[in-house]
Amino acid sequence: MRVAALVLAAGRGERFGAGRAKAFLPLAGRPLVVHAVEALAACEAIEWIVAVLPAAEIGRLAAAQWSAVAARKIIASVAGGAERQDSMRAGLTALPADVELVAIHDAARPLVRPGDVARVIAAAARSGAALLAVPVRDTLKRVRDGRVVETPPREGLWAAQTPQVFRAALLREALAKAEADGFQGTDDAQLIERLGCAVEIVEGDPSNLKITWPADLAWAEACVRERHGEDTR
Ligand code: CTP
Ligand code: MG
Repeated sequence: MRVAALVLAAGRGERFGAGRAKAFLPLAGRPLVVHAVEALAACEAIEWIVAVLPAAEIGRLAAAQWSAVAARKIIASVAGGAERQDSMRAGLTALPADVELVAIHDAARPLVRPGDVARVIAAAARSGAALLAVPVRDTLKRVRDGRVVETPPREGLWAAQTPQVFRAALLREALAKAEADGFQGTDDAQLIERLGCAVEIVEGDPSNLKITWPADLAWAEACVRERHGEDTR
């Protein structure tokens, strides 16, 4: 199957609060989005990569020191939209017509392992839709006005990650339906679920966290150092 990846990097990073695009913050000296693209490029199944960027940053990625593999796979950089779903749609329009599977990945998840990307792609190639996720570790509380109103049973709760991978035709249909209904999802799988289609879970790795707050970046720096140590042992 011919597989393309969209790397979504057009968010404002409001919770992080750096005053600049989160995907361009440095991790081990390289922007988060560069780590994310390199991790996807290292997965053999992915043939093409489209980066979806804040309009003001288009062109800035060209200066990155890409590996030869990533440089070969990146086919376009396009401007994203106001919401994540708008950015996803912008990326979809830049894909070649013969794409069969689309892997959508957050640039804010720079630590995804290529092996996990390969596993979720293989699952979606079989089933049509799959995402990486990890079982929820903490007990969750629903809170209103500083008080607990509910403790949903943790049993069966998973935290969704990316990549999320879908048959291209299914994704286009799901996006068209969401837009017709005025629905905005917080992830892409939700749009497929709304069609009534099954979405397969592939257990991922907790290190594939989404950089959201400054403390996450400090944790990611430590994780990169540790992995580097693994590589050189
Ligand atoms: N994203 C995007 N376009 C948007 C919103 C988000 O491409 N309009 C991307 C982000 O760049 C990020 C991923 O979607 O890589 C996940 O979003 P999130 O972690 O929420 O990032 P931000 O939206 O940038 O952060 P915040 O919600 O704190 O503003
Ligand atoms: Mg956001």
